[in-house]
Amino acid sequence: MDLLVIRGGSPLRGTVRVSGAKNSALPIMAAALLTDGPVRLREVPRLSDVSTLSQLLRFLGMEIDETGPNELALEVKDRRSFTAPYDLVRKMRASICVLGPLLARRGRAKVSLPGGCNIGHRPIDLHLRGLEALGARVRVENGYVLASAGRLKGATIDMAGPQGTTVTGTANILTAAVLASGTTTITSAALEPEIVDLAHFLNSLGARISGQGTSVIRVEGVPALNGGAHAVIPDRIEAATLMTAAIATRGEVMISNVEPAHLASVTQLLRRAGAAIEIAPSGTAIEAAAGPQWRPVEFSAIPYPGIPTDVQAQFTAMLTAAPGISIAADNVFPNRFMHVSELCRMGARIEQSGDRAVIHGGTRLTGASVMASDLRASAALVIAALTAEGDTTIRRVYHLDRGYERLDLKLSSLGANIVRLRDTPELLTDSPLPQARAA
Ligand code: EPZ
Repeated sequence: MDLLVIRGGSPLRGTVRVSGAKNSALPIMAAALLTDGPVRLREVPRLSDVSTLSQLLRFLGMEIDETGPNELALEVKDRRSFTAPYDLVRKMRASICVLGPLLARRGRAKVSLPGGCNIGHRPIDLHLRGLEALGARVRVENGYVLASAGRLKGATIDMAGPQGTTVTGTANILTAAVLASGTTTITSAALEPEIVDLAHFLNSLGARISGQGTSVIRVEGVPALNGGAHAVIPDRIEAATLMTAAIATRGEVMISNVEPAHLASVTQLLRRAGAAIEIAPSGTAIEAAAGPQWRPVEFSAIPYPGIPTDVQAQFTAMLTAAPGISIAADNVFPNRFMHVSELCRMGARIEQSGDRAVIHGGTRLTGASVMASDLRASAALVIAALTAEGDTTIRRVYHLDRGYERLDLKLSSLGANIVRLRDTPELLTDSPLPQARAA
């Protein structure tokens, strides 16, 4: 396992390019199970989650080759298997996205229940209800979802749950419906740009989807799909993470390969906190800089187009610097606060109660040894370490590598004082680590 040693205090400056979106690439790769034709994807981020899903898709008879930096060629060669085994699915929840395509193309699917994770209980009841509405027979036993169907039949399906809609649930029903007979209407569909990107990809293969990006998506079933080529949209969560890091370190960074429209709520919150955010004339880059003073803010993470839950931890880390009381609530994952205890070990004053964290800002954090717990909590710890006084060691960096393509190198290129080390037993104590590169 790797660890990061970060010496805080260097304002980030320069230009950095955002990678393709993890949460778009994963459902799109799974959707390639729907066609026998060759699929070529560009802007695929190099992440451990992408490697894990590639392993599962190869297990399911798909050939996947890296044809260039961030480029994949995918083609189904064998359709006999329909099982997504536990030891692959447990590594990555998004593996559940193979359920819809397997059922639609192979008539059967046996997919391990993804289970929970550090951000909270992650049920899939809405996924299963939607597949049953399309005519599938679904049961859950021994930790697996077992689903079977002849040709699925179009239906009207609502995707609303107690916490609002479901992103991968919408993806599963959308991918299942493209080969169903007749029309499917998905109401309370997720509005996320990643769902829009998935629909665009499917339409490029010959699907007939409309309404993506609204809460009502309509699908005219087709008998089969062709091959095709697609470029994955930029990762709005990585862009938001980089903007937050630039501002938290009181730097100034131009972030390229972004879709500003996907970041409207993020940009608005950062401006409320006192940051200066400018969209470049090209319309595909954003400049993020600290303003003259911090302002505390209150926000709630809600489904798109609201503040994304996937940046709640990063904003919380940044707001420890804003004098006054800020409040971070998470209405999507009410328990997504694993980062709070580690931030407090760095001197932050945060009280978490229920679905919100109350941040008493204005204190300078101090470096410490901390442990990453999940993907976005890791990003929050990196941001905190970049602003802290002294050195911070972040262990279990594999959490970070699941969803960011070498974030440490991107930050180094902006002047961050950060080194990646192999975590070996002698480093398990708090012995003084090789110091981060001298400032
Ligand atoms: C997707 O997860 C993303 N992952 C998550 O990003 C993101 O946080 C989440 O959407 C919300 O935007 C991928 O796209 C691979 P949900 P997903 O189903 O689809 C409840 C990251 O850091 N729910 O939209 O699993 C659920 O418990 C990851 O990149 C049900 O009740 O999330 C949650 O409270 C983390 N029943 C809410 O809905 C269901 O059947 C939203 O979950 C499904 C979900």
